[in-house]
Amino acid sequence: MTEAAQGRSRTAVVLAAGKGTRMKSALPKVLHAIAGRPMIHYPVRAALEAGAGRVVVVVGHGREGVEAYLRRAFGDRVEIVVQEEQRGTGHAVLVALPALASEDAAARVLILAGDTPLLSADEVRVLFDACDAEPKASMAMLTARLEDASGYGRILRHDGKVVGVREQVDCSPEERFIREWNPAVYAVRLGFLQEHLPKLRPNNAQGELYMTDLVAVAAAEGGVLDRAVDAASVEGINDRAQLAALDRRMLLGIARRHQLAGVTVREPASVEIHDGVEIGQDAVIERGVVLRGATKIGAGATLDVGCVLSDVVVDEGALVKPYSIATESHVGKKAQVGPFSHLRPASDLGEEAHVGNFVELKKTRLGKKSKANHLAYLGDGEVGDGVNVGAGTIFCNYDGFNKHVTVLEDDVFIGSDSQLVAPVRVGKGAYVGTGTTVVRDVPAGALAIGRARQENKEGYADKIKAMFKAKKAAKDAKK
Ligand code: UD1
Ligand code: CA
Repeated sequence: MTEAAQGRSRTAVVLAAGKGTRMKSALPKVLHAIAGRPMIHYPVRAALEAGAGRVVVVVGHGREGVEAYLRRAFGDRVEIVVQEEQRGTGHAVLVALPALASEDAAARVLILAGDTPLLSADEVRVLFDACDAEPKASMAMLTARLEDASGYGRILRHDGKVVGVREQVDCSPEERFIREWNPAVYAVRLGFLQEHLPKLRPNNAQGELYMTDLVAVAAAEGGVLDRAVDAASVEGINDRAQLAALDRRMLLGIARRHQLAGVTVREPASVEIHDGVEIGQDAVIERGVVLRGATKIGAGATLDVGCVLSDVVVDEGALVKPYSIATESHVGKKAQVGPFSHLRPASDLGEEAHVGNFVELKKTRLGKKSKANHLAYLGDGEVGDGVNVGAGTIFCNYDGFNKHVTVLEDDVFIGSDSQLVAPVRVGKGAYVGTGTTVVRDVPAGALAIGRARQENKEGYADKIKAMFKAKKAAKDAKK
């Protein structure tokens, strides 16, 4: 690895112990989702992608949930330390130091906040690179500019050089006009942190230990390297309005990346393609489509208006017609779904299978070229190739206690409005007549028919109409 070649290891500390009071939520702030993932995911991933060998996350509020998520998403690539009491950003980094004790004093420690999801690995790498270029500097930091930087710590400069950061609440009236602000993204020499963090004192309006106080110390000892970053990348999230705004911004960025990779995204502002979704070339994503989780869309597939897919794999050339909902399912090559279909978990459509309007599948496999085109419920089914399931067919899979399987072998034909009372098997090529309730296995090649025999009474229609007409007249006369 290049960082090893440079002889200086890279580690990261992500601060995520704060409560996020302004979210007004039972959920810790860093677990609120952006583009389908808890926002803590992004800074941790950026640090890893930028070459941090280890990432230490400082947790506090709601720590069980945060830790559980990080374990699931990153395994042992992240380490957790607990900050019992939130005594400021400097204190949070101090709490993380023992976890870094085994590192060389020359190691570069990247410090990030857990609520800055739009920051990219490239923007973080700039800091590591700056440190490599000038190894004597104690610290490298990002800075950003806004017309009005209210709320942020302001950058203090002297003769053009960064000499400190002043928090909003500690600013003089003149300092409040400073437009350059501190995004709180730093790369600091470990030895410098070990020497100076324990000396921080809470001499400020909030009575906290400020990480930002180290900027002035670094300026006086070794120097501070500053790198400008676009303010949009480092905006933090404090309330749900900012959460929605950054969510939308990230979603637009994702849609744009797919567009530039050859996907037609008709109206990016109306779609929601989550982080991690994969889409092949020449796929078409129409208005209002939502793609969540580990969804994968094959080349040339079309997702028409209003489809919602969560953890679904759609193969090449498939067509999902408007307003279809699918979860944890697979749609085969050139298969067709919808409009208004519902694929519940573990549904699996074979190549060129068709599922039409108001058809619900659950844990059912439909073989190659099999069709269920209208108004059906197929639950716990194993359906072979070339099967035709007629309108209104129901797999009666549940007896109130247990679920049972319906098997339809290849080339079976199920007439409309039939019920298959599971467990039941219909053999290869068998034919089930319309309106049959199938309660016993049907042998291959047999015709199953189970309905009352029809009787026709010649000339009886007029008689029965006259009878009903007289009844109605008698009733009306009484009113
Ligand atoms: C901090 C910076 C400010 C900067 C701003 C950018 C300080 C003193 N100020 O202010 O200069 O402009 O970020 O967004 O550093 N945290 C802990 N433990 C604590 C306190 C905070 O883990 O004891 C975590 C929070 O969960 C959060 C991050 O540190 O993820 C930043 O804390 P926050 O209180 O939001 O700092 P700001 O006031 O925004
Ligand atoms: Ca903040």
